[in-house]
Amino acid sequence: MPVKTARGSFAWAVIRGKFAPEIALRTDSPPAHVCPSIPCCILNAMLHLENVGMRYGMGREVLSDVTLTLAPGEFRFLTGPSGAGKTSLLKLLYLAERPSRGLMSMFGRDLALTPRQELPALRRRIGVVFQEFRLLDHLSAYENVALPLRIAGRKPAEYREDVEELLSWVGLGDRMQARPPTLSGGEKQRVAIARAVVAKPDLLLADEPTGSIDPDMGERLLRLFVELNRLGTTVLIATHDRHLVESLGVREWRLSGGSLHEVPQKGRS
Ligand SMILES: Nc1ncnc2c1ncn2[C@@H]1O[C@H](COP(=O)(O)OP(=O)(O)OP(=O)(O)O)[C@@H](O)[C@H]1O
Ligand SMILES: [Mg+2]
Repeated sequence: MPVKTARGSFAWAVIRGKFAPEIALRTDSPPAHVCPSIPCCILNAMLHLENVGMRYGMGREVLSDVTLTLAPGEFRFLTGPSGAGKTSLLKLLYLAERPSRGLMSMFGRDLALTPRQELPALRRRIGVVFQEFRLLDHLSAYENVALPLRIAGRKPAEYREDVEELLSWVGLGDRMQARPPTLSGGEKQRVAIARAVVAKPDLLLADEPTGSIDPDMGERLLRLFVELNRLGTTVLIATHDRHLVESLGVREWRLSGGSLHEVPQKGRS
């Protein structure tokens, strides 16, 4: 079924039911670690990490020898017990932290060779759902969601309808003017998700995006992520939610004690 994107947003496709109801994700991307041509793989990858280590200050390594490749258009889950390093890995990927060793490239750029002043432009291509939401308390829910579009120079008249529809889709149609301190945890999380997806980023990184949300709303939000992925966004979701992971059957990386491995998929060799 064709997806309507004429107005530069995915929102209509999801909100007006113009997506295939069955969840079928792209699985045609090359599996990580087995690309025969490493340089080509890296060049075309959305993200590539090779033997990356990370520590906070002078502390112990919280990530050790992490090697991964995320291809454009992939949808992946990142799982692992509390303290395994999921948020730390995402911080590297949204460029809030630097690796303490190893190689990292993003959008085909070697980050070690990328001048610091060019990082904000790379960051603007990434939508992030933070584990602790990070909404701006002095702005309304509507203004928080509209912020990435404002920063991108879009005019309110161009995006108002999109933002309102998206907020209604996540069940906050009657809370648009509320400020974050007056919202519940689940409501804040939904604002954070809407803000991360509204500009249809090239890469979406979501850290426990359904942690404060009931199962029905979780499923609704998952459809949003799936539709965004269908429209071209590469998606990586860190989660403890096995139901979320198993409902899609997409590839999964698991972190354990700072080491990453690929979880073999059921029913696939
Ligand atoms: N800012 C920090 N400074 C020092 N150590 C930190 C910092 N943030 C996290 N850590 C440590 O890094 C390790 C990994 O933490 P991280 O938050 O990445 O785990 P996580 O897998 O996201 O856990 P959770 O599922 O509870 O969110 C933990 O041992 C944690 O104590
Ligand atoms: Mg975390």
